[in-house]
Amino acid sequence: MNATYRKQFLESRDHPAAFWMEQSKAINWLKEPKIGLETKANGASRWFPDGELNTSALCLDTHIDSGRGLESAIIYESPVTDTVRSYTYIEVLREVNSIAKGMIDMGLQKGDAAIIYMPMIPEAVFAMLACARLGVIHSVVFGGFAPKELAVRLEDAKPKIIFTADAGIEIQKTIHYKPMVDAGIDLSAHKPEKVVVFDRGLSDQCEMRNLDVKWDQFCKDGFYIAPTPVASNDPLYILYTSGTTGNPKGIVRENGGHAVALKYSMEHIYGVKPGEVYWAASDIGWVVGHSYIVYGPMIQGATTVLFEGKPIKTPDASTFWRIISEHKVVTMFTAPTAIRAIRKEDPNGDMIKQYDLSHFRTQFLAGERCDADTLEWTAEKLGVPVIDHWWQTESGWPMLGQCVGYGSDPVKPGSANFPIPGYNVQIIDEQGQPAAPGEEGLVCVKLPLPPGALADLWQDTERFERSYLSPVPGYYFSGDGGYRDEEGYVFITGRVDDVINVAGHRLSTAEMEEVIAANENVAECACFGIHDELKGQVPMAMVVLNHNSCGIDELVPELKAAIRADIGAIAGIKHIIEVPRLPKTRSGKILRKTLRAIVDGNEYQIPSTIDDPAILEEIEQKVKTQINTKTKTI
Ligand code: COA
Ligand code: AMP
Repeated sequence: MNATYRKQFLESRDHPAAFWMEQSKAINWLKEPKIGLETKANGASRWFPDGELNTSALCLDTHIDSGRGLESAIIYESPVTDTVRSYTYIEVLREVNSIAKGMIDMGLQKGDAAIIYMPMIPEAVFAMLACARLGVIHSVVFGGFAPKELAVRLEDAKPKIIFTADAGIEIQKTIHYKPMVDAGIDLSAHKPEKVVVFDRGLSDQCEMRNLDVKWDQFCKDGFYIAPTPVASNDPLYILYTSGTTGNPKGIVRENGGHAVALKYSMEHIYGVKPGEVYWAASDIGWVVGHSYIVYGPMIQGATTVLFEGKPIKTPDASTFWRIISEHKVVTMFTAPTAIRAIRKEDPNGDMIKQYDLSHFRTQFLAGERCDADTLEWTAEKLGVPVIDHWWQTESGWPMLGQCVGYGSDPVKPGSANFPIPGYNVQIIDEQGQPAAPGEEGLVCVKLPLPPGALADLWQDTERFERSYLSPVPGYYFSGDGGYRDEEGYVFITGRVDDVINVAGHRLSTAEMEEVIAANENVAECACFGIHDELKGQVPMAMVVLNHNSCGIDELVPELKAAIRADIGAIAGIKHIIEVPRLPKTRSGKILRKTLRAIVDGNEYQIPSTIDDPAILEEIEQKVKTQINTKTKTI
């Protein structure tokens, strides 16, 4: 194991406050912290509690003040609109100031909330940075979520303002954002004061209503807006993520720890220097987009690529390689699903050979489990280290991986590598003790959590404690299972709860069950993720119908449509089959893991607690006749 990495990891583990105080010097504070770490009574960390800063100033002013204002901050690459445009730090600051001035004029202040529901366009990033400039807490909602999901977030975050656009483009399909915002507001008990609409001229459904104002009328160009000092522990943003119930969790990210952690990660995990081009091909609606499209590269003074496209079909499987080549990207980050999609179209990697990638140094993968085959194919075709790294919305930055800034180690396909300095990752067995090498257990992080990781849920400390701190006392419980081998490589085997991962998108099966169970024809249902060769997992449902219900053939399209309408297109359910009963334990818990094993064709043990073993055989028959041949095709 690389000695520099090992030394840093041990320092961070044994002297966390001193380690992170040292790292905190790498950013420009408005008031430098004298205290590194305070621990709350529940075990959560408060990093740099006496420090003050402004995250937008770190992203923009710091670089402009050091004479780099004319360098490129953002490259907007939009194959779906045939646009490539670069923005310098000075240009970004001008846009951010003009939005911030509009926000000041409507009376917004530090601590107010804003929702951003926008496609992958520069204005979405400008809006995030404008919020950060004023200490307004933003909550970005992924465009693939339906109005009802937006309404849930509106009611929880209570924003005074929503930033949106007329439409986005998904390959060739127009996604009309504005009517979805209108529907979300109509469904929500909380109403914002204003909706600011960026009209790209893409939609014929962009009707302006009484709360709405056009982007250009709202923004006031030509003003310098001084960055508002915020406390290190003031929230920068709330990002909602799927939990094990129907209600998403509002992960709170605090300004100070976040900035220090992202600066550290850009330098040491990704090994990217100021002025270099870094690209995370994700969406700003996910944590990867927050940390590594927007804040990480911008705090580091690297150039970030904002990509409005897909790995395939925009226009083809060569898009990633063209962008890496044309913009001299040194490090890229994507999900294994994206690589699998590219590989399907270009199995021999012939399109890669058309481009000069000689400057490209490292490919990072995350968001879902990466199968060894995909990792090996990528490494062979790209000829650079391919590093699988593991993290969550909760952590905000990687918990397992490799620090290429310290020099990399060999990778083991299938492993997400080693604990990152700051994250003392441990595998915990059923007795709550560290597991032996090779033994599978719960993947946990020994407290304290490092800077940048969540310290609370938005206005729900009780749920924060119940979800993350109570399951294994003294540890943060990630919800994932895994094991560590003799050499210290950690392998993540998947979620141990009802959260699934579809194409790198985290979704809650409990939420899907709520939608299906709401149908009057359904007596009971179970949703779970099944294996899919492209997307890793896809959701499916088994339903028990009421006696007087309509037939299953009639019901399936209705249920699929309800999932899309209530959660969104990304939750598209693959199969719905009718079963006579659901297998349960004697205490009434549905055996979803067993159902998943049946559909995936894996061996399974009949749980000793099952109340009616005969039902499993009936279900196996149903699965065989109804879906087995179709499961693995997309
Ligand atoms: N806004 C609105 N709708 C969206 C959306 C967005 N931002 N993103 C996806 N959707 C919709 C799609 O249009 C699709 O709708 P449809 O069923 O009506 O066609 C549905 O959600 C499912 O989309 P997706 O999961 O993207 O599947 P796909 O079959 O359209 O594309 C891939 C397959 C592999 C190209 C795509 O899944 C992909 O790019 N995956 C990589 C994802 C990734 O990078 N994740 C990392 C997150 S960190
Ligand atoms: P999200 O919060 O949306 O980033 O999703 C986090 C979840 O995605 C984790 O809890 C894991 O289940 C999964 N995940 C993310 N990265 C990896 C990885 N490298 N290997 C395995 N699973 C991963």
